[in-house]
Amino acid sequence: MKNILFVASECTPFVKTGGLADVIGSLPHALANEEKLNVRVILPMYDEIAEEWKEKLSYVTSFSVEVGWRKQDADLFQIEHNGIVYYFISNSFYFTRKGIYGYYDDGERFVFFNQAVIASLKFLDFTPDILHAHDWQAGLSVALAKIYQPVEHMKTVFTIHNMKYQGVMPVEMFDEFFNLNREHLGGMEWNGMINCLKCGIFHADKVTTVSPTYAEELKHPYFSEGLHSVLNDRSSDFLGIINGVDTNEYHPLKDPHIDVNYRHSRAKKKQNKTDLQNQLGLPVSEDIPLYVMITRLVEQKGLHLIQHILEEFLQEDIQFVVLGTGETEFESYFSYIATKYPDKAVTQLTFDEAFSRKLYASADFFVMPSLFEPCGLSQLIALQYKTAPIVRETGGLKDTVEPYNEATGKGNGFSFTNYNAHDLLAVLRYSLFVYHTPEHWKQLSKNINKSKFGWQKSASDYKDLYEKVFEQQGVVQS
Ligand code: GLC
Repeated sequence: MKNILFVASECTPFVKTGGLADVIGSLPHALANEEKLNVRVILPMYDEIAEEWKEKLSYVTSFSVEVGWRKQDADLFQIEHNGIVYYFISNSFYFTRKGIYGYYDDGERFVFFNQAVIASLKFLDFTPDILHAHDWQAGLSVALAKIYQPVEHMKTVFTIHNMKYQGVMPVEMFDEFFNLNREHLGGMEWNGMINCLKCGIFHADKVTTVSPTYAEELKHPYFSEGLHSVLNDRSSDFLGIINGVDTNEYHPLKDPHIDVNYRHSRAKKKQNKTDLQNQLGLPVSEDIPLYVMITRLVEQKGLHLIQHILEEFLQEDIQFVVLGTGETEFESYFSYIATKYPDKAVTQLTFDEAFSRKLYASADFFVMPSLFEPCGLSQLIALQYKTAPIVRETGGLKDTVEPYNEATGKGNGFSFTNYNAHDLLAVLRYSLFVYHTPEHWKQLSKNINKSKFGWQKSASDYKDLYEKVFEQQGVVQS
């Protein structure tokens, strides 16, 4: 049985800011259950992690980590949760702070974490055959694994969850944070900066991203955020594997947060809608279509398109609810909309897991017109709750949502291609037509009921990938 060590910066149920945490929280279970792989996860020990978890941690050991000339202490803890072992690296200077990212010294904090991961390997009662690192926060661990070779024959896989965030610092930090010979600078530097994402792409035996379409998109400058040539150099070792969704966690029949549990019953789903309308002070009617967005309020999520056409769309007999937090520009916009259209629009500028489940369960449509979307989890959750996604055809949205086609009766949602606000408006209007045409709405609902996005397929694709890594002879890059 092969041992895989996941290196990541967030993981449910311990700490989460985005979809990465969901993947790190659910993929190891799928790999263990479906593919008999022995997966463990190593994470930073943030202050943010809830007391209930901290109390259950057991102490493993302490060791010293070099961050350039600094010697920093690292304490290693572990916990077993639902059959998976999680390690936590603790250092109060770097991680006893509010929140998890966004500090001026994030670069140094994650240099420490990655150095500590490599240093911890000799203390674990677990010898990884593969170190599988995720996103920029773990990219350096791949480079350091290749350079220091802490475990004989250990291979590496690097997964890009979002190319936009690369973990970049001035090149002078090479001498400041690493006690490495200058010959290693080339593999860590890009455009005159240390680039942690590049470290992962350049050094890993295999590189993946989280959907086949995003893998294609990343080969082009428009999507690659400056790294397409680095990626194109690795094209024979690069592929996209779509994420799954935890079908146990996101299940309308089992979800304790929603008012009326259901499997496929549209009637019960509608009861959730009327309960929600009541709760939000909206006109109560089963027949008014409810559109929701649950999202970080950032440009990536296509909010500029929404801004251009929402008021026009609100002239229709619809309701529109937004839940999320983010950039001031968008927070103010959605607050303004809710004030101007109190009978149609509601904005909640918070993130509240329980309320988000109610929205998934109550909505008829889930709107996600992303500018780019490596995989996207919300459209999959929406489908789980029998809510029709309306998406832009990019990244994982394109791979998971098939536009409804009246002629063939196929499709589980709605989509449009160009990043154009009126194309979005046209598809929103088309969704209204389908909603009000019983024959089509019934067919679409049937197709949604059949959509399946568990982790089985992805787990088996990762297993195949790990096998290919072992078939590869020698070290690909040094
Ligand atoms: C990032 C991407 C998102 C993806 C998630 C998990 O958050 O933006 O599209 O689903 O990572 O891979």
